[in-house]
Amino acid sequence: MATSTSSSKSVGPDYRPEIQKPTATVSTAIPHKNVHTLSQTPQLIALLTMIRSKETQRADFIFYSNRIIRLLVEEGLNHLPVVSHTITTPVGREYAGVRFQGKICGVSIMRAGEAMEQGLRDCCRSVRIGKILIQRDEETSLPKLFYDKLPEDIAERWVLLLDPMFATGGSATMAVDVLLSRGVPEDRILFLNLIASPEGIDGFAKKFPKLRVVTAFIDQGLDEKNYIVPGLGDFGDRFYTM
Ligand code: PRP
Ligand code: URA
Repeated sequence: MATSTSSSKSVGPDYRPEIQKPTATVSTAIPHKNVHTLSQTPQLIALLTMIRSKETQRADFIFYSNRIIRLLVEEGLNHLPVVSHTITTPVGREYAGVRFQGKICGVSIMRAGEAMEQGLRDCCRSVRIGKILIQRDEETSLPKLFYDKLPEDIAERWVLLLDPMFATGGSATMAVDVLLSRGVPEDRILFLNLIASPEGIDGFAKKFPKLRVVTAFIDQGLDEKNYIVPGLGDFGDRFYTM
């Protein structure tokens, strides 16, 4: 089931000649306007290298995952609408700026998605957070919905849907269906994700063309157990229990 559409690129600061830069595998390119992949900077690749390694212990896994989550949240916020906002500075001059328009909330797909809540809170003070508990069946890989608890006015908010891993896409699709059934317009959903499979994200982007995805990396494919490869293993286990 695994595909190999990813490519290598030299990675490093511009003051170094190309020949002195190491090569690294970078995110697979995907032709969907509603999928935004973080810039494949040396920093991001180094952080991903840390969390992908099987040698990385839990404390470091949490620390480096949190750094990537912060980058994802910061980039995700760039996709929210702003309006003009002019202010006066302490030296009496005007500055033509912007401010965010509209209310937001986070929705995490439990359990692994909860790991992304703090990164959102660090950027958006007192943000409301809803939860959807979906678990993937270990044998069939099919998602099962157990529970949801969402802000009552969620239909009036922009929703940042949080889940670090996107494999077959079954769990995220089920979560989006819950949000749509509560009246959230598709174009007000922003899905923040660390690692996606190309086949999963392709189907998802086509099924929900108005929804936006911000991901750190599109990987090579899925293995026979529908784990992302090369991936990082089970995110929830590594963040919470291993
Ligand atoms: C993981 C992950 C996603 C899902 C991805 O959760 O966090 O929710 O699998 O797989 P899919 O795209 O094929 O649906 P899991 O159900 O293993 O539960 P966890 O969050 O408790 O680890
Ligand atoms: N869930 C994970 O945590 N990792 C995968 O590779 C797939 C699903």
